[in-house]
Amino acid sequence: MSNIRQRISAALQTQRQQGRWRQQVVRTSGHGRLLAHRDGQFQINFASNDYLGLANDPTVCRAFVAAANEYGVGSGGSALISGYHHLHHALCQQLAELTGKPQVLLFGSGFAANQGVIGALIKQGDLLIQDKLNHASLIDAGLHCDGHSVRYRHNDLDSAERQLQRQAAGKLLVTESVFSMDGDQAPLNELAKLSQQHQAMFMVDDAHGLGVIGEHGLGASCLEPNIDIYMATFGKALGVGGAMVAAEQDVIEYLTQFCRHYVYTTAMPPAMAAAVSAALTRIVDEPDLVRSLHQRIDFFRTLAQQANLAVLPSTTAIQPIMAPGNDRVIAIAEQMRQRGFAIGAIRAPTVKAGQERLRLTISASHTAQDIENCVAALSDIMGRMQEHFE
Ligand SMILES: Cc1ncc(COP(=O)(O)O)c(C=O)c1O
Repeated sequence: MSNIRQRISAALQTQRQQGRWRQQVVRTSGHGRLLAHRDGQFQINFASNDYLGLANDPTVCRAFVAAANEYGVGSGGSALISGYHHLHHALCQQLAELTGKPQVLLFGSGFAANQGVIGALIKQGDLLIQDKLNHASLIDAGLHCDGHSVRYRHNDLDSAERQLQRQAAGKLLVTESVFSMDGDQAPLNELAKLSQQHQAMFMVDDAHGLGVIGEHGLGASCLEPNIDIYMATFGKALGVGGAMVAAEQDVIEYLTQFCRHYVYTTAMPPAMAAAVSAALTRIVDEPDLVRSLHQRIDFFRTLAQQANLAVLPSTTAIQPIMAPGNDRVIAIAEQMRQRGFAIGAIRAPTVKAGQERLRLTISASHTAQDIENCVAALSDIMGRMQEHFE
């Protein structure tokens, strides 16, 4: 056996032994309020990033299908060779207007955008400063970049400032707007100010903010104008897939030339750009959609607190409930599944060991009854579990 094969089998064994095994569940329905699985079971979907229910929205689907019928299903090339279509261009203009930034680049995924931007911007002698709880795509970008990468304590301005005081040729501070596993928000105004004071560029990953926070849900750029590099994904509240980076003209031109994750990859299908554009238009034209999401979040939190569930202080669509221990968190999620609710069981390494949690997400497509039933089931299961694990 080669060393690589030995390592593979050892890693798989450890993963199983530590209760960290992950696997796909085959879904047979579209992604919406209800999920159907191959075993014929249905669950109400509290495990989604489709916060506004747009993944299956008829208007968004029609835009996708119409563009695919007219222009085909693939872009056929990278953006700088032959893959850039007028639907990409139109989406970039829509996004530039929305974020108040002069220019926008589209990426195949948020993971690629974060890796690409940081790899292109951070060079030897530079300092990348990030929140400790940033997403894996940002943390990994820091590990692989040419400069020095440091982290500050989660949402801690003193800790961020201590890192900003380090000497470096160039500095980039990066935070998420809404943290993906905690649902809490970064102090964007203060971080922007600190970045300016220390001549650092300020980058925000708004993956879980666009469609949820800011005026009419239009994201972090409504809350803080001094974001130098604004990144968001289209696979969460917009319900589609792909990602964007918005910034001043020079930065976007630089990324267009030097960002390898932009240059050396197939452009997203034009039909996807049409679908993203339709999703954005729905959010802008129908503010009730975002309003109804927030009503449901408030309703969930009121019920969860009444039921004494250990919900974290989040006012976004991500509503984690702490349930430390791999066995415990998996057992609760499995019992919820049996009762007809899909929820995420989050374990290490996604979160620190000992901070295992249920990740529930609220969607505008949930009914009040869905939320009531979900909280009642959780409260019952977690109450019984308490006795079992104590
Ligand atoms: C904060 C954050 N950034 C980036 C990403 C990656 O985005 P994408 O799913 O488009 O690759 C995610 C997705 O999980 C995320 O939660």
